[in-house]
Amino acid sequence: MCCDRASRLAEGQDVPPSRLHSDGPLAPLDLLKGRPQVPVPPPTVPDPYDISTAAAAAAAAPTGRFARRTAGMTASEIRALFAVASRPEVVSLAGGMPNLAALPLDTLAAEVGQLVASEGQTALQYGSAQGTPALREQICEVMRLEGIPASAGALGSCPAYRARVVHVAMGARGLGPQSLRNALESLARQGITPKFLYTIPNFHNPAGVTLAVERRTEILEICVSHGVAVVEDNPYGLLGFSGTVYPALRSFDRDVVYLGSFSKTFASGLRVGWALVPPAVRDRMVLAAESATLCPPTFNQMIVSRYLQTQDWRSQVKTFTAAYRERRDAMLAALETHLPPGCSWNVPDGGFYVWLTVPEGVDTKAMLPRAVTARVAYASGTGFYADGFGSRQLRLSYCYPTPERIEEGVRRLAGVLGAELDVMRTFGVPARTPRLRSGPDAPSPDTA
Ligand SMILES: Cc1ncc(COP(=O)(O)O)c(C=O)c1O
Repeated sequence: MCCDRASRLAEGQDVPPSRLHSDGPLAPLDLLKGRPQVPVPPPTVPDPYDISTAAAAAAAAPTGRFARRTAGMTASEIRALFAVASRPEVVSLAGGMPNLAALPLDTLAAEVGQLVASEGQTALQYGSAQGTPALREQICEVMRLEGIPASAGALGSCPAYRARVVHVAMGARGLGPQSLRNALESLARQGITPKFLYTIPNFHNPAGVTLAVERRTEILEICVSHGVAVVEDNPYGLLGFSGTVYPALRSFDRDVVYLGSFSKTFASGLRVGWALVPPAVRDRMVLAAESATLCPPTFNQMIVSRYLQTQDWRSQVKTFTAAYRERRDAMLAALETHLPPGCSWNVPDGGFYVWLTVPEGVDTKAMLPRAVTARVAYASGTGFYADGFGSRQLRLSYCYPTPERIEEGVRRLAGVLGAELDVMRTFGVPARTPRLRSGPDAPSPDTA
């Protein structure tokens, strides 16, 4: 991916914004610079319940030997949480793990066995940076469902690089056109032209909202008029509960960089995704991919390819969405039943996530260890924002636990929230002043 997943709460709204990126200067010669060495701290036994362990270890590393851009590689709260949340007694509403129990695993096992027996010499060999030819063709077929006419020649993948992130407000109908205009104009006044807008139009992670179809061309026009490229990240697009497949931004504009993934519609463990990029970007991207990984794993690609070829993957996607819809309903019903007054949440029409805003004064990051002690896990809002924003929000994933576990998890969460509110009432804990953005690049509220 071309960007980190951090984002920041925009003033006056409660849905995490999309992002604009502008590269900072790279420091390729850092490895050669003589810097004073920082002493390495003695090794400590990591506490799996301490989600700051990885961040602390990273902070204590002898950073003088690393390129400056590695400073941006901070431990994700969400990843660290997986370790805690995977304990069986914890109801994990934290991770976006697909419900793989819905896959025909026996059939897949037989297909994988056959793949090794019949094409093992290719499947277990190095391949090209651009991916296996058959899968590239099949991906084009998948994208046609979202109105994208693509040929296998434009596919590639890209490595991660640091970017300066500016946030754009979103509302219930997704990214706000006026917020985007305001952000771009504010940046223009500072002499900054962002390189690209990164956006998740369908069933947003973590906000669960979808960009209204009538906004899509407007967003593209705004970006074109400001000379800003668009990166569309769309792993959830086929997972709509009403069966509607929204037209991709890329279907309106061939210059959009489109990112797809089989993680949510097939199997996340295979780590197979793709990018559809305009010709001007493609060659660079292939070179960058080659220099980063040489080539993606051939075996995994051939498994995906065989799956698409031999299985009714469209029906499988329907099976997945039926399961996710049932779980979404279970979560919404449980939230309605158990949560204390003052909480609000969206009703997602697809994807994996409910975005919850808790009463003022509750800090979802600080509350997380107490929630885990009460055997429920979630992803605190701060994990999706830079610099500690999002402390009144949390993301609940309904994709993985059964409906019964979801209801139990929400009941536990409600208990923890109730206890926080009791403490605040009893001791008169002053409501924390929410950290709001200020300054010239602050995006304006978008309540639409
Ligand atoms: C916004 C977004 N993009 C992409 C992905 C898929 O990532 P990958 O293809 O690396 O599994 C996810 C999964 O959580 C996601 O939420």
